[in-house]
Amino acid sequence: MSKITAAITAVGAYVPEYVLTNQILETMVDTNDEWITTRTGIKERRILKDEGKGTSFLAIKAAEDLIKKKGIDPKNIELVIVATATPDMKAASTAAYTATQIGATNAFSFDLEAACSSFLFGMSTAAKYIESGRYKNVLLIGADKNSSFINYEDRATCIIFGDGAGAVLFEPNEEGLGLQDEYLRSDGSGREFLQATYGGSSYPMTQEAFNDGKHYVFQDGKTVFKNAVFNMADVAVKILERNNLTKDDVAWLAAHQANKRIIDATANRIELDKDKVMMNIEKYGNTTSATLPLLLHDYESHLKKGDNIIFAAFGGGFTWGSIYLKWAYNS
Ligand code: UT7
Repeated sequence: MSKITAAITAVGAYVPEYVLTNQILETMVDTNDEWITTRTGIKERRILKDEGKGTSFLAIKAAEDLIKKKGIDPKNIELVIVATATPDMKAASTAAYTATQIGATNAFSFDLEAACSSFLFGMSTAAKYIESGRYKNVLLIGADKNSSFINYEDRATCIIFGDGAGAVLFEPNEEGLGLQDEYLRSDGSGREFLQATYGGSSYPMTQEAFNDGKHYVFQDGKTVFKNAVFNMADVAVKILERNNLTKDDVAWLAAHQANKRIIDATANRIELDKDKVMMNIEKYGNTTSATLPLLLHDYESHLKKGDNIIFAAFGGGFTWGSIYLKWAYNS
């Protein structure tokens, strides 16, 4: 019997309706469209405004989009992973609620948190369940409501982040398509440069911390930028070398959408033509765990069976890595 590989066989997505443009941000903080566009590549981002709706709302919508498109019975889904840095609430699993709401009543489920690398690490995890031969339908959702911990008076962060969700289905493949190789890394000495300090177990929320805005995300942008550029390019090079791939063998680069300059630097390092680089940062900003599946959703009609896709991500922690995947279908 041939080796079982884990292939992506369907994609779904959802972004909230409200569009926060650079022009609107100009009225909120001391910034301008020209600065945001040239420094980040972002023009607008989506924000989930509805009170009481959290990350699970986005995750459910993305999963429902996939279920409808693929025409699957949610009862056949065996595992639901929600990759997220902004779970609905503490203690209660966002994935369990999501799975029940989409009708995946026979599935077990869990959240996976690795900041902006959550979806990438989720791909690795989902694939292992399939490759083991024990599971045949694993739903991986990347969803984040970043607006829940962004300070809209801090121009260093509020211009970057947006809300959104994407979902993929992993199934076994016997033609050798799907996940081929991965190179995943982390370095905890980086956590001081990108974090929301209060509200977790180290520093539970206090009235004083709340008044000082310590529950919001803080980012030392320059340091994170330098580390992202170096490490994302480094892992992309490593995964190509390890698999004897040249730039001509690569059909697409699907890189985490944090800053267009970081994506360009990664593409330049592997000498990839611009038209092979997936890019939608201008529409959504940095949606953390949702950037990679939103790219797959937006580019799905261009992808062909057998295409070599190089995924790369970098995020808080620090966490980062690269995955080499062969696309499994024509749409
Ligand atoms: O997804 C997780 C990983 N995150 C990332 O990968 C993000 C990495 N970092 C970045 O993308 C960039 O560092 C930022 C977009 C956050 C900032 O860009 P930068 O080129 O590193 O700018 P900077 O922080 O060095 O600031 C340059 C100047 C400063 O002014 P002075 O000191 O030169 O006078 C800032 O005060 O730009 C100023 N500035 C702004 N100006 C207008 C900072 N933010 C803004 C703003 N609008 N929003």
